[in-house]
Amino acid sequence: MTAFHPQDPDTWAEHALHLRSRVAPTPGDPVDSFVDWNLNIGPLTTDDTHKVAHAVAQAQHRNLRAPLTGRNIVVVDGPPLAGKTYATIATALEQTRQALDRPPQDPTCHRPRPWAYIEVLNHTGAKSIAQALAHSVGALVDRSAGIHQHVAAIRYMAPKVGLRGYIIDDSHGLLGARSRDTSSLATALKGLITGIPATAVVTGTNLRQDGIFQGTAGEQVRLSARNWVMCGDWPPPDGRTTTGWERLVRQLEQQLVFPGGQRQFHLATRQSIKTLAEGSLGRPGLAIRWATEAAVHAVTNDTVLDRMALEATARLVDPAAGLPTIPAAPA
Ligand SMILES: Nc1ncnc2c1ncn2[C@@H]1O[C@H](COP(=O)(O)OP(=O)(O)OP(=O)(O)O)[C@@H](O)[C@H]1O
Ligand SMILES: [Mg+2]
Repeated sequence: MTAFHPQDPDTWAEHALHLRSRVAPTPGDPVDSFVDWNLNIGPLTTDDTHKVAHAVAQAQHRNLRAPLTGRNIVVVDGPPLAGKTYATIATALEQTRQALDRPPQDPTCHRPRPWAYIEVLNHTGAKSIAQALAHSVGALVDRSAGIHQHVAAIRYMAPKVGLRGYIIDDSHGLLGARSRDTSSLATALKGLITGIPATAVVTGTNLRQDGIFQGTAGEQVRLSARNWVMCGDWPPPDGRTTTGWERLVRQLEQQLVFPGGQRQFHLATRQSIKTLAEGSLGRPGLAIRWATEAAVHAVTNDTVLDRMALEATARLVDPAAGLPTIPAAPA
């Protein structure tokens, strides 16, 4: 375990290295160690983590090779709990680990910190986002400075930390509910994205319809997103073809561990895969959480992880499921 927090740039390197070095418990170890491991698996490799990693690499390549053709961004869209944040952070952590293994490209870079992360919910506009990004790359800027000074400071620091990308997470609703001046905020965001010499990954739900990509500036940003990844957009399992769901279950089989060994894993059946996909509303993140809870159930009850274990733990994943609907209050 590490005290990883995506918003704290000091915790990235340690966590990136930890993910590679941790060792799973083996039969004979205390039951609690299996519970702890299973609750903390991942990031698992899924069809979406592949798509995000590929999109980020492609955008970074274009931004390096053809900087004059406009900055490419990556949009990671999809319903709640599809796995958008995990897929994005997984890519960023992997690049962080690789950066720690290689000598930095820039001689002024002493400690690589290639990725920065901000969660939009904590910010009220583009300046606040610029401030947070400046902080992430270690730039010292007076809080009263304007957005351009923050961007200039980020540009100055970018080679010194080997900045390659930054994540603007949960961007939906940034423009709209909390901002009266949608068009100027979209313009400021566009200025941020074009001004920072690294690849932006913008994540959120329903971004195609979101105010962040409307209007002239918003549309300019949207059109620079040649890489638009829809998470959780997997065909349902049909028992005939191999879909993302069968691949996910294979990954779960490789990552979840049991005191009795892998013979406790019984999820790779047509019915269990169908239950997992349908019961999680087709959202891979929710499916992983559910399988994890069912694995803990199997470990603590000394039973197997199968469809019955999924059914036994369905309420843990969505506590509101199956509750009677509360009638609307009279107007
Ligand atoms: N690749 C993965 N490996 C392991 N666990 C994952 C992975 N993807 C998702 N999860 C699990 O699913 C949960 C939800 O994933 P995540 O936070 O990435 O979803 P999201 O689409 O960003 O959701 P939201 O819309 O709420 O921001 C995570 O907390 C984690 O438990
Ligand atoms: Mg998220």
